Amino acid sequence: MLEFKHDQPAHRYQAVQDGHIAGTCQYELDGSVITFTHTVVQPEFKGTGVGSALARHVLDESRAQGFKVVPACEFIKGYIARHSEYADLLAGNN
Ligand SMILES: CC(C)(COP(=O)(O)OP(=O)(O)OC[C@H]1O[C@@H](n2cnc3c(N)ncnc32)[C@H](O)[C@@H]1OP(=O)(O)O)[C@@H](O)C(=O)NCCC(=O)NCCS
Repeated sequence: MLEFKHDQPAHRYQAVQDGHIAGTCQYELDGSVITFTHTVVQPEFKGTGVGSALARHVLDESRAQGFKVVPACEFIKGYIARHSEYADLLAGNN
């Protein structure tokens, strides 16, 4: 089962599969703007949907926290482009 944890001091969300770190999404926070800077999925988990699940999780969390999103990470940017229900989160879009 894929679970998610938020390592707030390290500014990252992680996807955990059966106790193993499967993916990490790094961010920076400035007021109510969250900038996703880098996403990495461990090689053995690539192409299994971990990246997409992590993207969905961090964006749902951003919405729950009332943050606007800057997708400096190309993967998160691409995910939002493919899932228009998250477009309203983009900083500058109201
Ligand atoms: C990018 C990465 C996080 C994707 O993780 P993943 O678990 O393999 O991704 P998923 O299987 O959930 O999703 C794959 C989707 O992401 C897209 N994608 C893959 N790499 C991408 C990238 N670098 N930029 C944008 N989109 C990307 C694919 O087109 C695919 O879309 P589709 O479902 O429409 O075909 C992973 O390949 C990785 O760690 N790459 C090395 C680090 C990196 O380049 N990070 C991104 C820039 S910060």
